[in-house]
Amino acid sequence: MMTIFSKTLLSAIESELKRQVARLDEPHTADYHEMLTYHMGWTGEGAGRKARGKRIRPFLLLLSAAASGGDWEKALPAAAAVELIHNFSLLHDDIQDKSETRRGRPTVWTRWGIAQAINAGDGLFISANLSMTGLKGSYPAEVILKVARILQENCLNLTRGQHLDIAYEKRPEIAIGDYWQMIAWKTAALLSAAAEMGSLLGGADEKLSFTYREFGHYLGLAFQVQDDILGIWGDEAQTGKSTASDLLEKKKSLPVLYGLAKNGKFAEMWREGTFKEEDIPEMGKLLEIDGTRLVVQEQADRMTDLALNALRTANPLGEAGDALFELAEGLLGREA
Ligand code: IPE
Ligand code: IPE
Ligand code: MG
Ligand code: MG
Repeated sequence: MMTIFSKTLLSAIESELKRQVARLDEPHTADYHEMLTYHMGWTGEGAGRKARGKRIRPFLLLLSAAASGGDWEKALPAAAAVELIHNFSLLHDDIQDKSETRRGRPTVWTRWGIAQAINAGDGLFISANLSMTGLKGSYPAEVILKVARILQENCLNLTRGQHLDIAYEKRPEIAIGDYWQMIAWKTAALLSAAAEMGSLLGGADEKLSFTYREFGHYLGLAFQVQDDILGIWGDEAQTGKSTASDLLEKKKSLPVLYGLAKNGKFAEMWREGTFKEEDIPEMGKLLEIDGTRLVVQEQADRMTDLALNALRTANPLGEAGDALFELAEGLLGREA
């Protein structure tokens, strides 16, 4: 159940994001601005709640700030920054993964072409960094520098993860450990940064902010494993993305790795490598018969438990604390 407090935060996030993106609202480049507002889910056919996505990262940042005893409103420019970084990464990721659908709508590159989509992603990336400068005056300079550094370092980690994710498409097998490293960078890095930055802006000391970082890290691992599950067995109407593209792109997702280790019918088809779009539903079924879905779900649950343990150690305060527990528990078995 969404509380009034959570709704207030989410609506403040939306306003701050709009303010940041409005920087590009200029007559000469109206269509550039439109690409961004379309991607953010505010304009174009199908605009609305689903097209905006979940806004989990900025929500996590603000809750972490409030739950460590700070004023969440002051942290809004940082919250907008993490969501803009996330959206920059999605815009580029859809080109890299050749994904035609995102949040239930055609991706930016399919509508405006790859060249313009890359530029639009760059625009979001720079807007994120400009957004961070909005923290000026609300916090001491060294705190701002510290959280800005955490954001940049984790952005770099995100590109490390993307590099591995793409490189692994061409590798016949990878070890499970390589998988965890790859998703720690491509996905958990930004969630971990959001939690750590939020706690620091909320006044957390070194030790407490480390616990928030850990919380975000495990939450991010659980989140990506769940994304892998949804990427094969999800309902496209709910996830808003294709359930064929991960397998077609030869992504080394956790279900695929466990499926290969089983050496059953799925592994045979995969190694043969001649499967087409119409074979994908059968491959999903074969993986399920192997028992892979259950084993992968157990891994997501295990990471969620680790996240909840870290959160208990952080002992988050008030209704923001309650919302953090709800957020972590809600990701277990999420369908979108
Ligand atoms: C999708 O992230 C990409 C991953 C890191 C798994 P989200 O599931 O948070 O995407 P939106 O923003 O809600 O659409
Ligand atoms: C998620 O990538 C991580 C980033 C976008 C950096 P994926 O390719 O696994 O996510 P989806 O499934 O396209 O959202
Ligand atoms: Mg990807
Ligand atoms: Mg993708």
